Amino acid sequence: MDEFSSVGIARNECPPRVNTGLDKLDELLSGGFPSNSITLVSGTPGSGKTIMCFHYIAEGLNKGEKCIYLTSDERVKNILKQATELGFDFRSAADSGQLKFMYVDLDRSNIHKEMENEIEQGNYSRVVLDSLTPVAELPVWVSGVHEIIPSEGSTDTKKYPTGSVPATRMHVRRIISILSKKNRTAMVTSEVPEGSRSLSRDTISEFLVDGILLLDLDTTMDRRKLTVRKMRATKHTLKPHDIMITEGGIKFL
Ligand SMILES: Nc1ncnc2c1ncn2[C@@H]1O[C@H](COP(=O)(O)OP(=O)(O)OP(=O)(O)O)[C@@H](O)[C@H]1O
Ligand SMILES: [Mg+2]
Repeated sequence: MDEFSSVGIARNECPPRVNTGLDKLDELLSGGFPSNSITLVSGTPGSGKTIMCFHYIAEGLNKGEKCIYLTSDERVKNILKQATELGFDFRSAADSGQLKFMYVDLDRSNIHKEMENEIEQGNYSRVVLDSLTPVAELPVWVSGVHEIIPSEGSTDTKKYPTGSVPATRMHVRRIISILSKKNRTAMVTSEVPEGSRSLSRDTISEFLVDGILLLDLDTTMDRRKLTVRKMRATKHTLKPHDIMITEGGIKFL
């Protein structure tokens, strides 16, 4: 008996797949994201990260799944408007409760707990966090084991400065642990600065997630590329693929 057979998993057995919302991407990923995985969608501003999230959510809604879109953009209305302009009609799903938009208020001290409660209680199978970057850049006050940002009035605290490695690491780890639960497959976006070679602005999340999709802009050639940089349990090419954004969203060329 080997380490896998003891838990009932055959060697080389492929995990069930969760369709991404883009047929060609599913093909590149042997059917889609591994279920119960977290995929980071990284890219510079305007590279198509949010639109990638729209495809992922639309696919979930088509399949009758419950979805949640966590956004640090206060104006949920604008996201709905952007989606509608690209042909994604999320309004009826939002009205029926199949899709929840949740504004992650970065000024609130217990945002992690609020996110966790909402995701647990709503029993969402598809979770999008767009974007991880501002959450990772929050300051951290350590108080006790579980709360990395204590409730107001807490006195027994130690503060790490904003943007310090321990602070960022704690936020990213906490978010990853909230998202990595059974029956949940998540997509998180991360901004990378223009010209940067790293895969996220926090430089840590790429090591903690199961998959990474990199969206690139070549402004001089007026081209867009999508690269699968990493995907757990999946044989994939590292070759960049030409894509374009049209009035219907992302299309492979
Ligand atoms: N109808 C359209 N036709 C062609 N391209 C479009 C259309 N709508 C949006 N785009 C392109 O998509 C880009 C926006 O994509 P998206 O919002 O997904 O980027 P993002 O990576 O999330 O950006 P940010 O980092 O600012 O959040 C626009 O800058 C534009 O280049
Ligand atoms: Mg965006």
